[in-house]
Amino acid sequence: MILTQLREATAANHKSIEGAMPLFPQIEIQAYRQLLEKFWGFYSPLEQLHSDAFSQQTKNLEMPLRKRTPSLQKDLSYFHDDKTLAALPRCADLPRYSSWPELYGGLYVIEGSSLGGQVITAHLHKMGFPQEICHFFNGYGAMTGKMWQGFLKELQAHVLSNEERALAVKAAQDTFMKLEKWLRAS
Ligand code: HEM
Repeated sequence: MILTQLREATAANHKSIEGAMPLFPQIEIQAYRQLLEKFWGFYSPLEQLHSDAFSQQTKNLEMPLRKRTPSLQKDLSYFHDDKTLAALPRCADLPRYSSWPELYGGLYVIEGSSLGGQVITAHLHKMGFPQEICHFFNGYGAMTGKMWQGFLKELQAHVLSNEERALAVKAAQDTFMKLEKWLRAS
């Protein structure tokens, strides 16, 4: 099953990227802002680079709904005006998805992070962070399970052959690695 394969192949990446996010046991609000800025600097150009895929209904996925940049913009507008936001650093070393299996592999990472996002959101609320800066990690909120199941259905329907699976796994690992490298870069 492709999900098991992706999960096993990226388990070490997941563990490693958690170490690049200083959220626990506590995070100061300015360090949290910097973390949001990092995610914005990755997702904003990534969604632009793959704008064709992200702006349409791709296969049966409501891709515009799955974009991360809008919620990051909402959170960051608490700290910055539009001009400052637009000038934030952007990652130049982005993953490139030039086939459907690669796009699905990358989406596994991005969509899967909404699951952990629920744990992170509970943590942010516990620390008393205002709701206005918690949109990104909250992702789809109460719809998270449904959105994840919707993604999995398409993943399993479209990534079938050994060759396709290998492409998806490689893209997922590459996405984790490039994001982690960017998060750790000062
Ligand atoms: C401190 C940071 C993080 C924590 C605490 C965390 C925590 C978690 C947890 C608890 C789950 C399992 C949720 C469930 O099964 O309901 C999960 C799943 C997942 N997370 Fe994270 N996560 C973090 C960061 C990230 C990041 C930055 C990414 C990638 C952008 C990511 C990608 C994933 C993926 C792909 C899954 C799905 C695994 C699967 O079911 O196959 N996580 N995370």
